[in-house]
Amino acid sequence: MPYGSGLHRSERVLPEPGPAFAYTPENLQEFEKVVQRYPAEHRRSAILPALHLVQAQQGYITGNSMAYVAERIGCSRADVEDMVSFYTMYFTRPVGTYVLQVCRTLSCALCGAERITEALEEKLGIRAGQTDPTGTFTLLEVECLGACDRAPVIMVNDDWHECARPEDVDTLIEGLRTRGPAALTGCHLHVEKD
Ligand code: FES
Repeated sequence: MPYGSGLHRSERVLPEPGPAFAYTPENLQEFEKVVQRYPAEHRRSAILPALHLVQAQQGYITGNSMAYVAERIGCSRADVEDMVSFYTMYFTRPVGTYVLQVCRTLSCALCGAERITEALEEKLGIRAGQTDPTGTFTLLEVECLGACDRAPVIMVNDDWHECARPEDVDTLIEGLRTRGPAALTGCHLHVEKD
């Protein structure tokens, strides 16, 4: 299956400017706290967390929000675009409430990741790279999520669903609809710590 959903930017294409953007007062306060972590001459190091704040606030990254971050950081817009186009965790189009990222790299592939993607496609009535008509779920295929010993792995927003099985897809989706992230198996590192 071809990689690339159009939700992640892997090439430099000017994004839609989108609506005017400014942090909420709470996010502006958080941004000011974050930039303090870095020496003034390395202020650009705060671009990544600054973009996370944009995405948390607006759901995805637009041209106007990149320009806003560039101005706040004091760098060029190209510096911000470089980050957005390099890292796949930034979305440049609207996504669903839950972004399901199915790992398709070797360990997960050998453990049936493709069957899981197919089961999710069937359950949600969409293809990988799409968002369901209710705007609740976006389905993506991604490369290694770093939990190969618990393959197959699905990342759901910032949470984990490990040791996934195609036959559990119905339960997973219905669980997310009714219980939210509590429906996920979580990361075994957290489970073992608790
Ligand atoms: S191969 Fe899937 S998490 Fe590493």
